Amino acid sequence: MSTLQKTTLALALAGATLATTAHANEVEVLHWWTSGGEARAANVLKELMEAEGYGWQDFAVAGGGGETAMTVLKSRAMSGNPPSAAQIKGPEIQEWGELGLLGDLNSVADAEGWDELLPDVVADIMRHDGQYVAVPVNVHRVNWLWANPEVLEAAGVEMPTTLDEFFEAGEAIREAGFVPLAHGGQAWQDATVFESVLLGGQGSEFYQQALVELDPEALGGEQMIDALEDFKRTRELMDEGMPGRDWNIATAMVIQGVAGFQLMGDWAKGEFTAAGLTAGEDYLCAAAPGTQNAFTFNIDSLAMFRVSDDEEREAQQALARLVLEPTFQEAFNLAKGSIPARPDLDMSEFDSCAQQSLADFQRTAEEGGLVPSMAHGMAVRADIQGAIFDVVTNYFNDADMPAEEAAERMVSAAQAASF
Ligand code: BGC
Repeated sequence: MSTLQKTTLALALAGATLATTAHANEVEVLHWWTSGGEARAANVLKELMEAEGYGWQDFAVAGGGGETAMTVLKSRAMSGNPPSAAQIKGPEIQEWGELGLLGDLNSVADAEGWDELLPDVVADIMRHDGQYVAVPVNVHRVNWLWANPEVLEAAGVEMPTTLDEFFEAGEAIREAGFVPLAHGGQAWQDATVFESVLLGGQGSEFYQQALVELDPEALGGEQMIDALEDFKRTRELMDEGMPGRDWNIATAMVIQGVAGFQLMGDWAKGEFTAAGLTAGEDYLCAAAPGTQNAFTFNIDSLAMFRVSDDEEREAQQALARLVLEPTFQEAFNLAKGSIPARPDLDMSEFDSCAQQSLADFQRTAEEGGLVPSMAHGMAVRADIQGAIFDVVTNYFNDADMPAEEAAERMVSAAQAASF
């Protein structure tokens, strides 16, 4: 939200009593989990709530990355009836908190010991002004490369570990008659590929300076130009059908053996799992080329809106409690492709990709390399993220725009959005 949007929203809300459309004993939950794997995961929570006697009104807004869902949420909040809970992430939680619209979850958090249960990096994002206002459902890793092993074998290539190997493997896959890289031309998917390629070529310190701290020298400098050029090269590995394609359709291209690779967060694993495939056999996962020592995290979380009805508030507290219980954490994350938000759970049911994700999360948290995903709203405010998305997508789709010009635009995007 920009400052202007915030002011408008605050004015619209001044004097308005918040009423949600959920009935007593029921929660209305806004999210964008609508693909096959995502819907299976969301259903886990609905069933657990219903088993405890609470009602669940599903408010699913299609659109990967959640941009449409956030637009719908703003208009619901403007008219004074937000849902009981919404999937809101990263710095946006703080923005909603500043508007005074979120209810606190401190009593559940105290009773369940969230402070001890959650890693600091996760707990910090869930608090506004020291109060818990959201509950984390998982930890997604964004810097993944997915592959179809049969396509790789047909092309005579291995899983690449560097960007050079990746581009070489891509050429071989094309020559063997497949699409090298499955992609959907939507701004958030472009940004997802961009941040992984930037991380792979330039490393996590540069990622932090450029995409988290928005340092103008990093945003407009040589390393950014190199990263943009690498990013543009990935376009040569994509097919002509990519404009507007949804991410899960791109994953289906890998599943069906039409394409060799996809660069996507591990919600893609939810699609492989829903298709009945086994990690390490039917499909392969590896850190995006060159990013073995880094982890771009993307934490899904449900923030609770302040409501006036006591029974609805009780249902919200139950939802928050259930989300961090082992039963939900295991079932949801097995279906979603992510790892649990709490690190103390038995991971024996999880596949090799999830085991690697957990080990890499812990290693990068200790040794450095753990960075928030810009493309998934964990690194910068939504207005700055939107301005960066515009530069990334315009540059990607404009064959004539030099990387130098895009780098300059990056600097102005970060500055202009700050006003
Ligand atoms: C969310 C995931 C979701 C993905 C695709 C990401 O921003 O964090 O939960 O599966 O977008 O919609």
